[in-house]
Amino acid sequence: MKWNTLYSSRIDSMGHSDVAEMLKLAEQPEIISFAGGLPDPATFLLEEIKETFKEVLAQRGRDALGYGPTVGITPFREWLAEHMTQSGRPSKVDECLVTTGGIAALDLICKVLLDPGDIAIVGEPAYLAALHVIKSYQGRFAGVPLDDKGMQPDVLKSTLEDLRRESLRPKFIYLVPSFQNPSGVTLSEKRRKRIIEIAVEYNVPIIEDAAYRDLRFEGQAPPLLASLDPQNVIHINTFSKILNPGVRIGWVTAPQELIETLALAKQGQDQCSTTIGQYVALAFASKGLIERQKSRAVEIYRRKRDAMLAALENYFPTSAYWTKPQGGFYTWVTLPKEIDTEALLPRSIEDVSVAYGAGPSFYHNRSGKEHMRLCYSYVPDSQIEEGVRRLAHLVSEILVDTKY
Ligand SMILES: Cc1ncc(COP(=O)(O)O)c(C=O)c1O
Repeated sequence: MKWNTLYSSRIDSMGHSDVAEMLKLAEQPEIISFAGGLPDPATFLLEEIKETFKEVLAQRGRDALGYGPTVGITPFREWLAEHMTQSGRPSKVDECLVTTGGIAALDLICKVLLDPGDIAIVGEPAYLAALHVIKSYQGRFAGVPLDDKGMQPDVLKSTLEDLRRESLRPKFIYLVPSFQNPSGVTLSEKRRKRIIEIAVEYNVPIIEDAAYRDLRFEGQAPPLLASLDPQNVIHINTFSKILNPGVRIGWVTAPQELIETLALAKQGQDQCSTTIGQYVALAFASKGLIERQKSRAVEIYRRKRDAMLAALENYFPTSAYWTKPQGGFYTWVTLPKEIDTEALLPRSIEDVSVAYGAGPSFYHNRSGKEHMRLCYSYVPDSQIEEGVRRLAHLVSEILVDTKY
């Protein structure tokens, strides 16, 4: 069978998969991979997880292994509603939907909101799986650049104004306000408030993806966008970074009417998220183990962030600069224009056995060749300095070659 003669037009829109490539690189032991945004398995409380699975099975028996309600099991949704309320977004159970991770939450939202050709506004550089999801629903993009304080409100406003002039109403603004993937930057409180005002003015909802919010190493957390405007902000979140991605649990908090429509769409996505995973996540959270794991994770990732920033300072050419994340997994490096990080990647893997995320993966139009994402979360501490040193050497060689 010639399968490609059967493919839908959606497959063309998706292009090739940078995510799969990055995950593959992380599996090769000889490569120092700063590519995949993976949690460090050392953050997982393995013994406590084993114990919790045992307890859940002892208490719930076979019920824990069956199908559950599409919206999620009630006690877990009650916990989510309480958690969101404590985080500043007063929430009812009916405003919370359990999903199979954070990216599945975005997939559901796009399934509900996007028709082919609809416009999504994204802060760029952007989370590449989010770009992939929007493309797979054949959405179009309006990119709004980020700087070291996150999305620039003035550019957002002028983008919305330009679209309005063409009678185009974007379906949503997608943002990762804290420790953004891939840049590591956090949207300031002032900008959060301004962006909410602009979104209300143009009547466009915001999707707030808070995947890394709890992994703060220092400083004060700005308010959730969802707490500033519960009616206009769709909050998505995940247990992948604070428990583990293996449980595949995430959630959406949004006005009830939208949650009901997302639940309808979820029936054709996976019908329900893992029942045993929800019970385990609930038990873990109730015993205070999420908090314990978070503290351990913050300590580990802070140490790795420090090692990464120190190595960049020591080895990278002075013509390069990078972000200084206060949490999360990533720093974003900007190199002189002579460097094409996409073209350099195969050479970096081949010659110095170091992988990274090439800039164009994080732009809808594959621009940004002079940038690279370095993820410090997964690489063993002992390899961070060496990986950065090798990468810096390669970059410096090219700059000499091009007589920069
Ligand atoms: C910004 C962002 N959102 C959401 C996710 C979703 O993760 P998951 O689908 O594993 O919950 C990730 C994971 O890398 C992420 O970086």
